[in-house]
Amino acid sequence: MGVWPSRWLGLLLLVFLWGSSSPASLLRRLREHIQQFQESSGLGLSLSPEAVALPKEKWLEQPLDPFNASDGRSFLQRYWVNDQYWASQDGPVFLHLGGEGSLGPGSVMRGHPAALAPTWGALVIGLEHRFYGLSIPPGGLDMAQLRFLSSRHALADVVSARLALSRLFNVSSSSPWICFGGSYAGSLAAWARLKFPHLIFASVASSAPLRAVLDFSEYNEVVSRSLSTPAIGGSRECLAATSAAFAEVERRLRAGGAARAALRAELGACGSLDAVEDRAELLGALQALVGGAVQYDGQAGAPLSVRRLCGLLVGAGGNCSRPAPYHGLRRAVQVFTHSLGQRCLSFSRAEAVAQLRVTEPQVFGVGDRQWLYQTCTEFGFYVTCEVPRCPFSQLPALPSHLELCEQVFGLPTSSVAQAVAQTNSYYGGQTPGATQVLFVNGDTDPWHVLSVTGNLGPSETAILIPSGSHCLDMAPEKPSDSPSLHQGRQNISQQLQTWFRLAKESQVRVAV
Ligand SMILES: *[C@@H]1O[C@H](CO)[C@@H](O)[C@H](O)[C@H]1NC(C)=O
Ligand SMILES: *[C@@H]1O[C@H](CO)[C@@H](O)[C@H](O)[C@H]1NC(C)=O
Ligand SMILES: *[C@@H]1O[C@H](CO)[C@@H](O)[C@H](O)[C@H]1NC(C)=O
Repeated sequence: MGVWPSRWLGLLLLVFLWGSSSPASLLRRLREHIQQFQESSGLGLSLSPEAVALPKEKWLEQPLDPFNASDGRSFLQRYWVNDQYWASQDGPVFLHLGGEGSLGPGSVMRGHPAALAPTWGALVIGLEHRFYGLSIPPGGLDMAQLRFLSSRHALADVVSARLALSRLFNVSSSSPWICFGGSYAGSLAAWARLKFPHLIFASVASSAPLRAVLDFSEYNEVVSRSLSTPAIGGSRECLAATSAAFAEVERRLRAGGAARAALRAELGACGSLDAVEDRAELLGALQALVGGAVQYDGQAGAPLSVRRLCGLLVGAGGNCSRPAPYHGLRRAVQVFTHSLGQRCLSFSRAEAVAQLRVTEPQVFGVGDRQWLYQTCTEFGFYVTCEVPRCPFSQLPALPSHLELCEQVFGLPTSSVAQAVAQTNSYYGGQTPGATQVLFVNGDTDPWHVLSVTGNLGPSETAILIPSGSHCLDMAPEKPSDSPSLHQGRQNISQQLQTWFRLAKESQVRVAV
């Protein structure tokens, strides 16, 4: 990897130095860190003479309320275009959808879909999700504005972008548009094809959590399984050591006094751990750290892989007098905070709530408030650990997650459960009944249990990559990629080939 120009470095520092808040935002910060790392590495951001020119950001005027024609307000949605492989106006268009975070020029330059574009002579477009990054409507993030933030609004944006950009770039009406996306954006890609098959020819949905769920306890079931999987460096000892480390943290928290003060110093907590809810936040953040190691296992830019984490937890011994797993966990926290450029970890619930209540758009924020709103009004996805075989602490429990919807947005708990059920009835959960959608998942990734991992029919197919983590197929290729990942990417290419043959056949039929 080349040297990053200071402009980028400055941006990265700004994003990651302003301290973490809730456990969920710790995971989000990790995600953003990895995405930025992967998009910027080798992106021509090195100062070499052959450095590729980065596409400039462009802006599309979109209606704020696409469902009310008499509401004339609009906002500017950011997008990027890479036309260097676009062979002809009849060529396909790869539309890379942004999700719950900012997008960058890397979305059309690195990883898939950009890596697939040369083979097919495709035009690549990256579209940032409304309310994230710089695509935030004027007027900020108060409740009156957030009414216009939902997956349905995002899909309406996809439709109007598809129509406007077709005209702008003079894309032939016979060009197939293929949507790509990872994680929540993967669900959007699948739903774009499901709801608008006349505009979107097919979709590749990577690590897409299609089923909304209030209590996402299955997340930690996969985390446990992955921590004990030898193929990625896990073992039964590692899972046991994780349990032991969490039990030790809980013991010290309960003991109070000097034990708690020592814990605070050893884990590098920014503030005291005297409040009950702050102790729950600490346990949640530690869970997120272990969960993050599993979710992003083996990815460039990830501070901890399962192998490294297990090495720390199991191999940290040598001192019989001290509980080794706890020290391994402590070391893992240091590695993590150092990688993300954080001086200390904030476990203050009050601070987290205060930050989430800020309605000024945070240019360098990762969209915590917006995503919390979407979980409260559409998806849930609250990771819990209350089943007996879960290796971590039972805290924070579901009510504490739900309380956040109430505290930050004034949304009652019952409305969250109802919203989750509505989302599943509107999109069909894990049996959406779409055609020409390819679902790609990795079996290490905790999110794969909410996706489609087996073929639902001849035109709704799935790839499950052994030992694959979250959205791994979309990451830039590297020499250390496993044969199973390589095979998975080949299968995606084959699926595209099949679709393009279908597109040609349907054109011939129309012409005849
Ligand atoms: C539609 O927009 C108009 C103009 O802003 C507004 O008066 C009206 O209340 C809106 N209707 C709905 C259903 O939001
Ligand atoms: C648009 O593309 C068509 C062919 O698909 C071509 O005939 C026409 O000249 C193009 N128009 C512009 C403005 O580029
Ligand atoms: C072992 O314990 C001693 C004293 O408690 C400490 O100084 C030393 O750093 C420990 N070594 C390891 C490898 O943890």
